[in-house]
Amino acid sequence: MHHSLNAPSNASETAALKSLLQEAGIDKPLRDRMKNRALELVTRIREDSTPGMMELFLEEYGLSSDEGVALMCLAEALLRVPDGETMDALIEDKIAPSEWGQHLGKSHSSLVNASTWALLITGTVLNDDIENPVSRVLHGVIKRLGEPIIRQAVTRAMKEMGRQFVLGETIEKAIERAKVKEDEGFTYSYDMLGEAALTERDAKRYHLAYSDAINSLAKHATHKDIRKNPGISIKLSALHPRYETLQRERVMKELVPRARSLAVLAKSAGIGLNIDAEEAGRLELSLDVIEAIASDPLFDGWDGMGIVVQAYNLKAPKVLDRLYALAERLNQRFLVRLVKGAYWDTEIKLAQVEGHKTFPVFTQKPSTDVSYICCAKKLLGMTDRFYPQFATHNAHTVAAILEMAEDKSLFEFQRLHGMGEALHDTVLRRQGTHCRIYAPVGAHKDLLAYLVRRLLENGANSSFVNQIVDESVSPEDVAADPFTAVERYLDDAKNSSIRQPHDLFAPERDNSRGWDLSDPETLAELETGLSKFDNHIWDYSSESGTAQEVYNPADGSLVGRINFASERDVTTACEEIKPWDNSASRDRSDILRKAASLFEENAHEIFALLQREAGKTILDCVGELREAVDFLRYYAQQAETIHEKLAGIFTCIAPWNFPLAIFTGQVAAALAVGNGVLAKPAESTCLIANLATKLLWEAGVPKTSLKFLPGTGSEIGSALTGANVVNGVCFTGSTTTAQRINRNMAKHLNPTAPLIAETGGLNAMIVDSTALPEQ
Ligand code: FAD
Ligand code: 2OP
Repeated sequence: MHHSLNAPSNASETAALKSLLQEAGIDKPLRDRMKNRALELVTRIREDSTPGMMELFLEEYGLSSDEGVALMCLAEALLRVPDGETMDALIEDKIAPSEWGQHLGKSHSSLVNASTWALLITGTVLNDDIENPVSRVLHGVIKRLGEPIIRQAVTRAMKEMGRQFVLGETIEKAIERAKVKEDEGFTYSYDMLGEAALTERDAKRYHLAYSDAINSLAKHATHKDIRKNPGISIKLSALHPRYETLQRERVMKELVPRARSLAVLAKSAGIGLNIDAEEAGRLELSLDVIEAIASDPLFDGWDGMGIVVQAYNLKAPKVLDRLYALAERLNQRFLVRLVKGAYWDTEIKLAQVEGHKTFPVFTQKPSTDVSYICCAKKLLGMTDRFYPQFATHNAHTVAAILEMAEDKSLFEFQRLHGMGEALHDTVLRRQGTHCRIYAPVGAHKDLLAYLVRRLLENGANSSFVNQIVDESVSPEDVAADPFTAVERYLDDAKNSSIRQPHDLFAPERDNSRGWDLSDPETLAELETGLSKFDNHIWDYSSESGTAQEVYNPADGSLVGRINFASERDVTTACEEIKPWDNSASRDRSDILRKAASLFEENAHEIFALLQREAGKTILDCVGELREAVDFLRYYAQQAETIHEKLAGIFTCIAPWNFPLAIFTGQVAAALAVGNGVLAKPAESTCLIANLATKLLWEAGVPKTSLKFLPGTGSEIGSALTGANVVNGVCFTGSTTTAQRINRNMAKHLNPTAPLIAETGGLNAMIVDSTALPEQ
């Protein structure tokens, strides 16, 4: 088993929590009052509420049931499914195995039951071994009708569920439906569904939808006080297809004016414009965008610019400070909506997959609750520049605010349409506080991303909405004080059941290191590191062979020099090459792991060379290096499980499009089981392959077992033909033509040798050296 040495610490999460607690200074008596008030609210909600759709749905299909998970997966995946055929396969996979019948008629809601029916029938039809004769008949009939029917049934079920979270398909219908709650004293913030524009056309469509909505709302904005009028919520990701840190310049030039135009409209309509918070990777960029919009002198003295702060983010208090300074500098009063954060699962998964140092968010639910309350206290002390909007459905969180706030006119609560009705009805009626409902508006096709977030966050059994409907959780537990929970783990705030990014594949292997390209510090570090190689010329020239100069494909500048191997070089390599001497697989694995670390240590040089020789973007460079490192560690670990002793000589022919990753993958696989390797890189990317080979040698791969043969396919191929040493060929072509050339070359080398496309897996790399052709 391999143990990591450089696992990141959890210092930041613990430190963030301690600092929050210290700054807020919330004492025990106050905490007790919060808890008691929460308990009262919880009891009241359980006593006299009619549960909302979300609650009913969760009651029937929590995340802990197989069916709940199947639904979640389905809803999530349907977002991305390109065609009917894939959709059918997906439905079959997710729906057929589940026990829908158990849920039939159990819910108090006819809509939940209708959805269950659709899913039950679908599941029955898809399930091939049906014993019940009635089901069999049904099965036969519907199967004959065909899969589109089933698809429709499932889509229908999803639509029924989705409908509950949308106030109206159009803004007019939504405004109409809003009247009922408005009469009770609620206000609205309309959210035109749509986010993550992928094309310019999408972005324009969303921009138009927002503008139209603001125009419609203008007629209903009858109060002088903006806080009493309806508002609008927008997502920056809807307004630009490349809303990402690496495209900062374009974002500032193209997205900012678009968003500003909406703010201008909102201002003249007399309504607030709220910019929703999205993924943590966009936090810094979003603040820059917001600052750029708000800095327009037109907004001097305005009180309608709305910003959302996510309490689960470790940087939340810093964000509040930055916004406060901005509001002061610009002489504005911001609407600041405090939320816990709706992308928690995404943040955890992204940080793990991308190998970041730490998570950007808290990993224990009570930490987020505590962060929210501490940030709320901070916000309540900033009301000269902020109008706090406390968005939550959690009775404890609401109770905490009620205990802390002195003047109830200086803030408002917010809830999502379809959720938290009972809590906020009670609080509005009894406390006379303000409450705004965030109401999605739009068509079903734009709803799924939003719906999946609701299902995920509320399906989790730690969520308030989930606990309030679960009678097995006592009111005391539902209303429990999160500060007490946090105190228990204050020395180590990380959640030990969530794998740190570095340990994603533990215990087998370390995850490759990632670079968070949305983090300004990481970007600055990269810029400094890469700038050292701006004018570097990689000189790998040698005595023999044909001298080559390598030019940058983007601008034609010189990148380096290398000699293509001569026929003589190839012959010598063939004479010298041999499998590893009786090395234990353990030693080979250690050497490959050492190489992985060397690759990471030399990341800046590797990135610079990948950019200049292969024309890669920084995002691709990171992916490329990480894939190479993963290959090295993966094969190192695999090799330890394989005990065959048979090893021969492999030729590895790599492509230009993944000149480091695939080169390294092929070579590492062949080396891991003890083969000698003749490595032939793509002719246009020999420098990076040369660097990789040097690092492999430096890590301890014997020079007699790894020979580097740069050159063209035809020249190296013909020099190798007849050399009679090769008993395995691993090749890849990046285009079909290259693939054909490489395959031909591979065949020529040894017509009887196994041909392995890509890296092919380790077992394929084990060859019988006794079958070597006679020399
Ligand atoms: P609770 O059940 O008390 O809290 C659930 C939340 O706890 C999760 O959403 C997550 O943030 C956090 N959490 C769950 N598990 C863990 C864990 N293991 N470790 C740490 N934290 C955890 N969200 C946005 O991101 N951007 C927005 O612009 C936005 N706008 C909103 C507007 C309104 C009016 C409302 C009501 C919510 C909005 N949200 C937004 C959603 C919000 O972030 C929460 O996801 C949601 O309200 C649930 O929080 P809660 O206090 O109601 O429930
Ligand atoms: C979301 O879209 C409500 O902004 C929040 O999930």
